[in-house]
Amino acid sequence: MSGPNTDYDPVEVTPLKADQVEAMREAALTAIADAADLEALKQVRLDHAGDRSPIALANREIGALPPQARKEAGQRVGQARGAINQAIAARQAVLEAEHEERMLVEETVDVSLPTTRRRRGGRHPLTLQSELIADLFVAMGYEVAEGPVVEAEWLNFDALNLGPDHPARTMQDTFWTEPADDHVVLRTQTSPVQARTMLTRTPPIYVVCPGRVFRTDEYDATHSPMFHQVEGLVVDEGITMAHLKGTLDHFASQLFGDGITTRFRPSYFPFTEPSAEVDVKCFVCRGGEGVAECRTCRGEGWIEWGGCGVVNPRVLVACGVDPEVYSGFAFGMGIDRSFMFRHDLEDLRPLFEGDVRFSSAFGTEI
Ligand code: DAH
Repeated sequence: MSGPNTDYDPVEVTPLKADQVEAMREAALTAIADAADLEALKQVRLDHAGDRSPIALANREIGALPPQARKEAGQRVGQARGAINQAIAARQAVLEAEHEERMLVEETVDVSLPTTRRRRGGRHPLTLQSELIADLFVAMGYEVAEGPVVEAEWLNFDALNLGPDHPARTMQDTFWTEPADDHVVLRTQTSPVQARTMLTRTPPIYVVCPGRVFRTDEYDATHSPMFHQVEGLVVDEGITMAHLKGTLDHFASQLFGDGITTRFRPSYFPFTEPSAEVDVKCFVCRGGEGVAECRTCRGEGWIEWGGCGVVNPRVLVACGVDPEVYSGFAFGMGIDRSFMFRHDLEDLRPLFEGDVRFSSAFGTEI
């Protein structure tokens, strides 16, 4: 029977020899110190501390040693592994800090450098003007209402007291869609939104509606087959012409400047009774001393702005509102016109021709 192999000399197990372990440790520490970045360190970790690294393989040999030899070899290998792991952790921390530092420098954005961004365009001045007008009314508690530009003849005309034989129909030269007996038009005014609103909401109604309208007009400096209007409608108990006047005075002074009020001239619109043309006080000469030479109002002191009136009870009835209980006012202004005299523009065509150089003088860059 043979006894334990007490003569076994651990020095004989080559990978566990002190100088071998020392060499592994040295090689690892050198490689760790040489690792220039985190990627390199990752490889070094695999090579010198991974499962197949010399030191890990040496560690596995320990079990093969006789018990009395294991302790010393175990300590030696354990210390070497500890030193290697510590060195890796320390190097990792250094490299991570360096990496972060570099990122901060590399990713710094100098906001003062000139950009190479090309202008893509500007928001259209009429869009901005429409939004401004809508905002003025929203601030007074109104809602913004919308309707389609391709509209039923009935809503564009009949509901607004413009029956088929009404002479005022010819005041608005209309684009009809085909076939004609579909009775569909490109809306000639934003007023059908009044009818739509009354048909779908119950009073009190306070709405404003900016939008596009179409008429078979020639295209010249002051006409376009497509232009913009803003419609206003109020239906509530006890509404009078005085409310209308106060509202439009406020609207005018907000849009054209403090002290710019309106005047009403008697007029006719089928959907309002009484009706008035609204003029706005010239915001350049204010009807004062320079009025005779004023180009903006052409010496008038006032500028034509739109139409308005107390909602005709026939319109209320057509739209299902009881005229015994409710009354209302309505108004309609040209947005393009307002824009033109607000900015002293003689020709409206640049508003529709899409030249960014024109728009961006008024609009916000995108
Ligand atoms: N729709 C009219 C037009 O295009 C403008 C207008 C006048 C609208 C009087 C109104 C109004 O709401 O009450 O000429």
